[in-house]
Amino acid sequence: MNINQRRLNVCFVVTLFLGFVWIGRVQASGPLQESASDEECLACHGRPNLTYEFPSGEVWSLYVDQDSFHASIHGQEELACTDCHTDITDYPHPPLKANSPRFYALEQYQTCQGCHEEVYKKSLDSIHAREIASGNWDAAVCTDCHDPHATQSPNEPRTAIPLTCSKCHSGIYNEYLDSVHGQALVDENNADVPTCIDCHGVHNQEDPRTTEFRLNSPNLCADCHADEALMSKYDISTHVFDTYVADFHGTTVTLFERQSPDQPTNKPVCYDCHGVHNMKSHKDPEAQVSHERLLQTCQKCHPDATENFSATWLGHYEPDINKYPMVYFVDLFYKIFIPAVLGFMGVYVVSDVASNFIRRVFGRNKRGAA
Ligand code: HEC
Ligand code: HEC
Ligand code: HEC
Ligand code: HEC
Ligand code: HEC
Ligand code: HEC
Ligand code: HEC
Ligand code: HEC
Ligand code: HEC
Repeated sequence: MNINQRRLNVCFVVTLFLGFVWIGRVQASGPLQESASDEECLACHGRPNLTYEFPSGEVWSLYVDQDSFHASIHGQEELACTDCHTDITDYPHPPLKANSPRFYALEQYQTCQGCHEEVYKKSLDSIHAREIASGNWDAAVCTDCHDPHATQSPNEPRTAIPLTCSKCHSGIYNEYLDSVHGQALVDENNADVPTCIDCHGVHNQEDPRTTEFRLNSPNLCADCHADEALMSKYDISTHVFDTYVADFHGTTVTLFERQSPDQPTNKPVCYDCHGVHNMKSHKDPEAQVSHERLLQTCQKCHPDATENFSATWLGHYEPDINKYPMVYFVDLFYKIFIPAVLGFMGVYVVSDVASNFIRRVFGRNKRGAA
């Protein structure tokens, strides 16, 4: 082997070595490197005792549970830490602007709009967003309802929905759990009953205390309670809506809704009688519309009402031979008597006109012939 040959061999070995190094680097900068960077972050943030103390003295846990992150929807979509934390590449991090964990969250949820623009836009006009805008920092933003590091399907199981709201509306949540709707959801995993978002919406919640919401609310209930197929499953009458609209209470509310949608009305809507989050089956003695408590319910607006007052009201029922025989027969009487009288008069008038006509025509003919 001469020197040149040896040089050539050395060159070959070196080239081979450099080649391997190069291939290795290419692989490292592929998908592997992304997870390596998550790992870098988790080397510190995977430590349960990693905390930060704000100047105010408030202590903040900086721990991110690796397993729930990887099991989450975002983890499964292989989002990297830096897809959301775009300003952080290594340690030390850029200086913190927020002065509390809450303000950090209020700053950071903006990153959600990058990938969920439609939901973000919808949420801008919600009651929660308006509360935040007016300085109520406790109102819900994206990350209050969806944990950014453990994002799960928000509606599976369906009981997860009211549970999400319960973080901040625990009083209403407890009432709801005890209601005919909530019980059916929790006990039977019933998919037909409303959860919070069927009545309030999800990302675009309105203020439920406006006149508009109130006047519109019977339609909210009608979505299900006027649905014949749905209600027959529970043997609940769908007449509730028609009879309500035909009733003196409902007629005025419907008229109001059309003519002066901004004016408050003192006429009852469904939830004035049934309750809002605590509505119960009318057979339940605790229901506001139960036999035991109905009078009290009417008295909210008719303070002088007596037992007789609520007893004579037909409720949602159309007069029925079994339930209200007297009213039924009076109703029937008018149904037969009035058409009969009108019909008789009609026949009388028509036959009178006809006989006059015949008399004139034939009378003239006879005269003409004469
Ligand atoms: C050497 C340990 C270490 C590494 C590596 C690290 N962090 Fe941090 N991180 C900290 C500490 C300590 C804080 C507390 C605030 C500070 O010191 O800046 C912090 C704070 C944070 C915060 C809170 C807000 C902020 O801006 O300070 C976020 C978010 C964060 N880190 C994300 C990440 C991400 C993403 C990575 C990976 C790219 C990462 N960290 C890598 C130690 C680390
Ligand atoms: C889907 C976007 C998203 C991803 C992915 C994400 N984060 Fe976050 N992270 C946020 C948001 C938003 C906040 C704001 C605080 C909040 O509302 O919980 C936050 C807060 C933090 C905080 C402050 C402590 C806390 O929990 O509030 C740390 C530390 C942090 N993230 C680290 C990480 C690390 C490490 C990863 C990767 C393993 C990661 N994040 C992945 C969105 C994300
Ligand atoms: C880098 C893009 C990205 C960012 C930023 C991001 N997400 Fe996602 N998110 C996704 C992808 C991809 C999916 C899975 C596909 C889908 O359902 O849209 C997803 C799914 C979700 C889901 C589940 C949807 C379902 O159908 O069950 C929720 C909830 C969610 N993200 C909330 C958030 C929140 C809250 C933030 C802000 C903290 C955020 N995301 C930030 C990309 C992102
Ligand atoms: C008050 C709680 C709450 C807030 C605040 C909230 N969400 Fe949701 N989100 C939910 C619930 C509950 C669902 C399930 C909706 C359903 O079952 O129809 C959902 C569904 C979703 C979905 C999947 C279905 C869809 O509509 O695409 C995404 C993505 C999502 N949210 C992202 C966000 C983002 C981004 C924000 C902030 C702009 C946000 N959410 C704010 C409670 C909330
Ligand atoms: C992070 C806490 C938080 C969560 C989670 C939350 N809310 Fe709220 N919500 C608020 C705050 C704060 C207000 C402002 C009024 C108040 O202080 O009670 C508010 C107001 C409302 C209002 C308007 C009525 C009013 O009193 O102003 C409705 C309706 C509402 N929330 C429904 C929901 C529903 C439905 C969910 C679940 C999908 C939910 N909220 C989840 C904090 C939250
Ligand atoms: C069947 C429809 C329906 C369901 C289900 C429902 N709500 Fe309501 N909610 C209403 C109506 C109607 C009002 C307006 C009541 C009023 O003006 O007195 C209201 C009012 C509210 C208010 C504001 C008034 C108050 O009492 O503070 C909040 C907050 C609220 N609901 C949250 C929730 C939450 C959280 C859930 C789920 C646990 C829920 N709602 C379930 C119909 C519903
Ligand atoms: C003035 C009070 C009042 C108003 C307003 C009212 N209800 Fe009722 N509702 C009752 C009473 C009382 C009962 C008990 C049964 C009966 O005597 O009619 C009842 C019974 C019901 C039932 C059970 C019927 C069955 O077949 O089991 C449903 C469902 C119902 N109402 C829904 C509604 C809806 C939806 C509205 C609004 C469109 C409404 N109610 C408005 C007082 C009222
Ligand atoms: C998403 C559909 C849905 C909406 C919206 C809805 N309900 Fe219901 N409601 C049901 C179902 C289903 C049942 C039967 C539950 C059961 O018996 O297990 C029920 C039961 C009831 C009952 C008990 C009936 C009885 O036997 O006396 C009353 C009262 C009631 N709802 C009133 C209302 C009122 C008032 C509203 C509007 C504020 C409303 N509901 C909105 C689906 C709905
Ligand atoms: C939220 C308030 C409210 C509740 C609750 C209420 N009402 Fe009324 N009611 C009114 C108003 C207001 C009128 C006047 C309607 C009009 O002038 O069109 C009225 C009218 C009536 C009338 C017509 C005769 C009259 O006195 O003007 C009867 C009958 C009646 N209500 C019965 C009842 C019964 C029975 C209940 C209980 C099941 C009840 N109401 C619950 C507000 C209410």
